[in-house]
Amino acid sequence: MLSESPSLIRLSKSCLTDAEKQAVMAVLDREFLGMGQEVNLFEQELTSLFKRPVACVVNGTAALHLALQACGISRGDEVLVQSLTYVASFQSITATGATPIPCDIDPETLTLDWRDAEKRITSRTKAVMPVHYSGGVGKLDEIYDFASHYGLRVIEDAAHAFGTRYHGQLVGSFGDVTCFSFDGIKNLTSGEGGCIVSNDEEVMARVRDARLLGVEKDTEKRFQGQRSWDFNVTAQGWRYHMSDIMAAIGRVQLLRFPELAEKRQNLARYYDKKLTSLSLVTPLVHNYEEVVPHIYPICVANEISRDSLRQNLLNFGIQTGLHYQPNHHLSLFSPSSNYELPVTDQVYPTLMTLPLHPDVSTEQIDLISKKLSSY
Ligand SMILES: Cc1ncc(COP(=O)(O)O)c(C=O)c1O
Repeated sequence: MLSESPSLIRLSKSCLTDAEKQAVMAVLDREFLGMGQEVNLFEQELTSLFKRPVACVVNGTAALHLALQACGISRGDEVLVQSLTYVASFQSITATGATPIPCDIDPETLTLDWRDAEKRITSRTKAVMPVHYSGGVGKLDEIYDFASHYGLRVIEDAAHAFGTRYHGQLVGSFGDVTCFSFDGIKNLTSGEGGCIVSNDEEVMARVRDARLLGVEKDTEKRFQGQRSWDFNVTAQGWRYHMSDIMAAIGRVQLLRFPELAEKRQNLARYYDKKLTSLSLVTPLVHNYEEVVPHIYPICVANEISRDSLRQNLLNFGIQTGLHYQPNHHLSLFSPSSNYELPVTDQVYPTLMTLPLHPDVSTEQIDLISKKLSSY
């Protein structure tokens, strides 16, 4: 078993109570662990939250992969996506056979710069994947206008943005197709997990079949405690459905969500307040009335070595992270060795993330700020 110092301030972690544990035990007691009544109820609860159909799956990467496939994205197609994202966004695109086209970011929000994306459009471009980096959605209206101008599908990678509002509307309750991740450290967790939300009934029907190996209409059977024995398959599917164990955790987290979201927002506000006096670090600015932050990124001034600062913080038990190594530098996704994304390449070497999860205390943020200022 891994042991860790009790004073370690973790970058991120799952925040669970006895209620999640009891919910899992109740599923184990029923001895039905697959996709059944818990997933059905979790989907219903999420549907009433978003006022749109929802399909739960095994993780956020699978959600993106299924969403792209259901929108007809396949080999030979291109998808515009910001390079500064987790490799999952890129892998979900290559999983369909399509090519991810790395794009630059808006330096203020670190979300997709559609003006840069526009320069990269070809006759093969079929979709754009805005990534709601750290929980903020950037200028999402403009991205939708851009997509509609060029007839592109929009698959929102909202892995970081569960609970965020945009112009007062919950992310997932508007737009084309939105995908969330419920992995262990996300704003809401189901252990692993994710979901697809869309008003496009054809897309949702394809997603529901494809998550169960393409077995047509198997979802309805499973929700009635049955399964299909006599069935047809007309499209490639995957074993991507959610299990009742995961849904049980997710349902409790959904009940706790207002408290979890408020804690994240208040901690980020507290960081903002503590860090304003430090001239050498600049937090990413969000309106925490709307944004529920998943991570807390800062940029350090050029005269500071980010990596030595991170090591120094770690020496005091403060974990930090790098979100994310730009994908256009990874061998699989690099269109060419001299592919340039000036903003991404300028921002990334200065970017790091500080601990953020609902169990971080204000005293810990006081300590982190003190260590940053004394560095
Ligand atoms: C931006 C982004 N997209 C997609 C994913 C994929 O989600 P999952 O880990 O649930 O597959 C993640 C997960 O960390 C992410 O950060």
